[in-house]
Amino acid sequence: MNLILLGPPGAGKGTQAKRLEERYGLVQISTGDMLRAEVKSGSDLGQKAKGIMERGELVPDALVIAMLGARVSQPDAVSGFILDGFPRTVPQAEALDVLLAQKAMPLSHVIELQVNDAALVDRIAGRFTCAECGEGYHDSFKQPATAGICDKCGGTEFIRRADDNATTVGARLEAYHRQTAPLLPYYAAQGTLRVVDGMAEMAEVARQIEAILGAPPGASNS
Ligand code: AP5
Repeated sequence: MNLILLGPPGAGKGTQAKRLEERYGLVQISTGDMLRAEVKSGSDLGQKAKGIMERGELVPDALVIAMLGARVSQPDAVSGFILDGFPRTVPQAEALDVLLAQKAMPLSHVIELQVNDAALVDRIAGRFTCAECGEGYHDSFKQPATAGICDKCGGTEFIRRADDNATTVGARLEAYHRQTAPLLPYYAAQGTLRVVDGMAEMAEVARQIEAILGAPPGASNS
C-alpha cells in the first residue's frame, strides 16, 4: 500500500503517518524531516534549504524531487510507504507519477486531512518533539504521561522547530493555499483522493483513515 497524506502545516500528517507506520508496517517518508536532517548535517542541500524553510517558503521542486526519488528507491520502500509533505506542487505530483510508474509502485490513496486555518496556528505553536526519538507532543492536546519524560523512549530533552513561529506559520499557510491546494483537484481527477475530518480528535482521525484503508493485517482494534 502506497499513500500520500495531504494537508496544511499542522493538519496532523506526521501524527497520523507515525501511527500508520506501526499499524500497517509502512515506512513514513517525510520530506520535511529529511530536509531538517540535511540542514543539521550542513550538506549542500541543507545550506540551500535552510533560509527557505525558515521563511516558510517551499524548497525548489528539482531539489526535493531528486531527494524523494532517492528515498523511494531504498529497499524499505518496496513494502509500502506513506508520503508526508510530498508532493507539495503540481510539478512534484507529476514527477511522482512518472517515478512510481517506472517502479510499478502505484498510489493506493491520497488522504486529505481537512483542518481550519485558525486551528493550525494553535496546533503548531504548541508542538514539541522528543529530541531522542522524535515522538510528537502538544502543550494542550498531547502532553507526555509523566511531565518531562518521553512516553516512547524515556528521553528527557524536547525540541521545538525553528519554523514553528507565528510569522513563519503565516507564510507556510499561504504557500499551502497557493501551491499545494491545486493538488486536491489533481488527485480527485485521478480518482485517488479521499477526505477525512482533521479537526476531529487524533483517535477519531485515525479511525476515519483506517475505514478508508481497511483493517491492518493481524491488528487489534485498539
Ligand atoms: P514539513 O515538515 O512537511 O511541515 P508542514 O507541512 O508544515 O507540516 P507539519 O510537520 O508542520 O505538520 P503536520 O501536518 O505533520 O502536523 P503534526 O502531525 O506535527 O515541512 C517544513 C518545511 O520543509 C516546509 O515549509 C518547506 O520549506 C520544506 N518542505 C518540506 N517538504 C517539501 C516539499 N515537498 N517541497 C518543498 N518544500 C518542502 O501535528 C501538529 C500538532 O498538532 C502536533 O503537536 C500534534 O500533536 C497536534 N495534533 C495533530 N493532530 C491533532 C488533532 N486531531 N487534534 C489536536 N491536535 C492534533
